[in-house]
Amino acid sequence: MDHFKYQKGELYAEAVSIKEIAEVVGTPFYCYSSETLEHHYQVFADAMNGLDAHILYAVKANSNISVIATLARLGAGADVVSSGEMKRALVAGIPAKKIVFSGVGKTQEEMAQALKAGVLQINVESLNELEMLSQVASSLNINASVAIRVNPDVDAHTHKKITTGKSENKFGISWEEAPGAYVLASKLPGINAHGVAVHIGSQILDLKPFRKAFELVVEFVKSLRNEGHTIESIDLGGGLGITYGNEIPPSPAEYGDMIKSVFHDFNCRVFFEPGRLITGNAGILVTRVIRIKQGLSHSFIIIDAAMNDLLRPALYDARHKFQPVIQSSDTDDLQMIEVVGPICETGDTFGPPSLMPKTTTGSLLAIRSAGAYGAVMASTYNSRPLIPEVMVKSASFSIIRNRFSLDDMLALESFPIWFED
Ligand code: LLP
Repeated sequence: MDHFKYQKGELYAEAVSIKEIAEVVGTPFYCYSSETLEHHYQVFADAMNGLDAHILYAVKANSNISVIATLARLGAGADVVSSGEMKRALVAGIPAKKIVFSGVGKTQEEMAQALKAGVLQINVESLNELEMLSQVASSLNINASVAIRVNPDVDAHTHKKITTGKSENKFGISWEEAPGAYVLASKLPGINAHGVAVHIGSQILDLKPFRKAFELVVEFVKSLRNEGHTIESIDLGGGLGITYGNEIPPSPAEYGDMIKSVFHDFNCRVFFEPGRLITGNAGILVTRVIRIKQGLSHSFIIIDAAMNDLLRPALYDARHKFQPVIQSSDTDDLQMIEVVGPICETGDTFGPPSLMPKTTTGSLLAIRSAGAYGAVMASTYNSRPLIPEVMVKSASFSIIRNRFSLDDMLALESFPIWFED
């Protein structure tokens, strides 16, 4: 469910006309609906009723401080993977005691910052990291609250670049090493390893791999407890998929029921790290058609958004739905069209040619499902400045990140000192 709907043939975000926002901020821009964000969060939270559930929004999906703050006001915690994301979560009003710090490459500095801030938990992904964390925590005289992330070697059947729970992936500790990690943790100063974490991938459309991984976690926790370890929390990661086109992902309620059946009579806090599920369909990317170019086999619609603004199609062959901001009366006039950006790469395409309603130069288009892994993955390739982000609430909208200017970009650069004379 989302709040991007047509009213009298014109696309609205909640009660705000997209065309009017475009007139104020120019194109391209990201637009988020706060009611949709709130709704997605609430549906997920409701689905976990009955569990001692802690919802830690995965900031990587969309780290704009207004997005985080909208969720913080509903009680969300945060899952962060860098000190930058931690800073954003704190600035957005999420208290450190609701922040889990994850990631395979935490530096000593990041560990120290997380410990000093007083985060809820640090998810550790290797024995080497555990030892480093012990040194950092002891030197600060802080006891680090730790979960060991296990790699369950379960295939999530998603895109290979976002599969994380197979043994050949860089994430987590294998079943062979995991028991030893808890023994090591119990001996290391400054470490209190009371949690188990797992995350098998993203945009997962089937509950089976989740269930398989979670059942393995249950067995593992039982054996840890038998060996005398105290396990108080399990972190089940994120990963539930969303609808981009025709996908039918499991609902949060179905996911919640599965989890309740797997972890029934398990005395544990349960952490969740949803990202895409909350922000994905709460955002669109609005773009304008620069030009229509007739190729030999099909026509190209060249839009003013490109792979630097939304990388997902180029990187994962992701397909995002396009919608005209102003609906045309003759939608029957379909043409073979490839929507492409202006960047000098053939990969700067939003998908192979497909039958689409004809459009005209200057028309506004909305690229749907762009709220997650959109603005956060943008770059300035081809010296294209980062684009604005706008948030809508009911009949109001607010610019929550300004468009960068070329001067902003150039201000960070300088000529080498040997050019001075
Ligand atoms: N927790 C951990 C440890 C993660 O690595 C991730 C995502 C999440 C939670 C949130 O997963 P979600 O609920 O959003 O599926 N850029 C890619 C997705 C990368 C996901 C990385 N990790 C894309 O655009 O599809």
